[in-house]
Amino acid sequence: MRLILLGPPGAGKGTQAVSISDRYNIPHISTGDIFRFNIKNNTPLGLKAKEYMDKGLLVPDEVVVEIVEDRLKNDDCKQGFLLDGFPRTVNQAKELENVLGKMDTELNKVINIQVDKKILVERAVGRRICRDCGSTYHIRFNPPAEEGVCDLCSGELYQRDDDNEKTVAKRIEVYLSETEPLINFYDEKCKLSTLDGAKAISQVFDEIVEVLEGNTK
Ligand code: AP5
Ligand code: MG
Ligand code: ZN
Repeated sequence: MRLILLGPPGAGKGTQAVSISDRYNIPHISTGDIFRFNIKNNTPLGLKAKEYMDKGLLVPDEVVVEIVEDRLKNDDCKQGFLLDGFPRTVNQAKELENVLGKMDTELNKVINIQVDKKILVERAVGRRICRDCGSTYHIRFNPPAEEGVCDLCSGELYQRDDDNEKTVAKRIEVYLSETEPLINFYDEKCKLSTLDGAKAISQVFDEIVEVLEGNTK
């Protein structure tokens, strides 16, 4: 299964990606996570990406496309993959088509998680992430059993640098101008399924499974 998760910042892409990746045994490829890993390790890529991420702006297309192209060549992508946060511009989507064309394959589905702007800011600002295993929580909507501590590995929970109100607002603005046009782009290719991401985490997941395994569009 070759899938894309589309949706604004805070829509729940990362949260759902973990369950989808588990169920279908496909790698979860998040360009945001790749950048954060590079920032943590002080690589040249990390330094470059941080300049943009801290401002809520997109990292330039050519940088992102090269990373994804390399990643998709890995053996673990042979049975499929789940892209989270890529593509994010029409140009990236076209580049992805080229890359998949060269690999003689194509996408199965683009899942668009729709959430109202008012909820997005609260979701992003309340998000906490485990430093050790990367699990995602929310201080209100999905709190850990013990504050600041990961349920799965007891790692320390932290807040992303770009999860403050000002940067989240900018990220939403960038999403609307640069990424939202992808909804039409994939709808025209009959690849798109749109879901209501305001529902509970488990309910959104059930609907994703229904889209992938049932007959609903
Ligand atoms: P990235 O890391 O991809 O961030 P994003 O797209 O802004 O999305 P988020 O990770 O904020 O949201 P999410 O949808 O994953 O939500 P989550 O599941 O965590 O990108 C960061 C930056 O990297 C970009 O700004 C850009 O600079 C750069 N970048 C990355 N990819 C790029 C690309 N392709 N091109 C150029 N630049 C790129 O959920 C959020 C919170 O809500 C959590 O706390 C969660 O617990 C909670 N939650 C989730 N679902 C629900 C629910 N149903 N109900 C209640 N709470 C929920
Ligand atoms: Mg994410
Ligand atoms: Zn953890």
